[in-house]
Amino acid sequence: MIAFPEKEEPVHIDRRAFLATLGSAAVVEAMSSEARADALEHYMIAQLDKPAGAPAQTLVVRRGAGALFGGPSPSGQRPELTALATMPERPTLTDFIRFRSTPGIGTHILQSANDALKKGEPEETVLACLLHDFVLNLIKTDHGWWGAQMMEPYVSEKVSWAIRHHQALRFYPDSSVGYEYPELYVRIFGKDYVPAPYIKASYESARKHKWYMDARMITVHDLYAFEPGMKVAIDPFVDIIGRHFKQPKEGLGFDGSPVAHMWRTLMYPDNPL
Ligand SMILES: [Fe+2]
Ligand SMILES: [Fe+2]
Repeated sequence: MIAFPEKEEPVHIDRRAFLATLGSAAVVEAMSSEARADALEHYMIAQLDKPAGAPAQTLVVRRGAGALFGGPSPSGQRPELTALATMPERPTLTDFIRFRSTPGIGTHILQSANDALKKGEPEETVLACLLHDFVLNLIKTDHGWWGAQMMEPYVSEKVSWAIRHHQALRFYPDSSVGYEYPELYVRIFGKDYVPAPYIKASYESARKHKWYMDARMITVHDLYAFEPGMKVAIDPFVDIIGRHFKQPKEGLGFDGSPVAHMWRTLMYPDNPL
């Protein structure tokens, strides 16, 4: 059996770029070893044809770009860019989830909140699950920090803290709640991936924090939020949002808060400047 390259190769292989050429994680998983080996060979040949220093894959948009802006999924797939609905004059969180979440991210956050609700979690945990990855529509890099900041003026300190720290916690198992390192991350980040020192530091400080479990449970429900074809409506969460999300009366984006521009950027993603 020929495995994917893990370490030194005679020809440098950009593992992520190579996997991205194959398609989704499910497609890669379904491939036989021989098919993978063939694909790898074709990929390596294509690399030899490229001038030295050329990127392994022609990028149309950088990987960290948010999904609403055409940023690729971790497996390299791009969302289809469709016409966007006009937002109401004073848009609410529900409007943003309905009209400014790409289908992939919208489904994921709703499934994760649904899992938390079904398992009897406190309402703030359900809300944290609903909000945890919404910012991926805007930006992907350091999404825990960006996501927490975006929600901070409107939720309790505990909810934004939990959103910030789920980014680091997802790399570290916790058997007390049945959280294992996700198989998906082995495919996305590679088998020998070691989180950056700032991620490790964030995890270590979170581990000792009184709200550790609030962030941890986001990572737990996250595991149950990748069900293909399972649609979850936003309706069961409307009352929870009403009780725990301080909706500004001027509308998100127009309330003069320090993060209003983040919401406006999602509202007007096609503005040139
Ligand atoms: Fe996340
Ligand atoms: Fe997630």
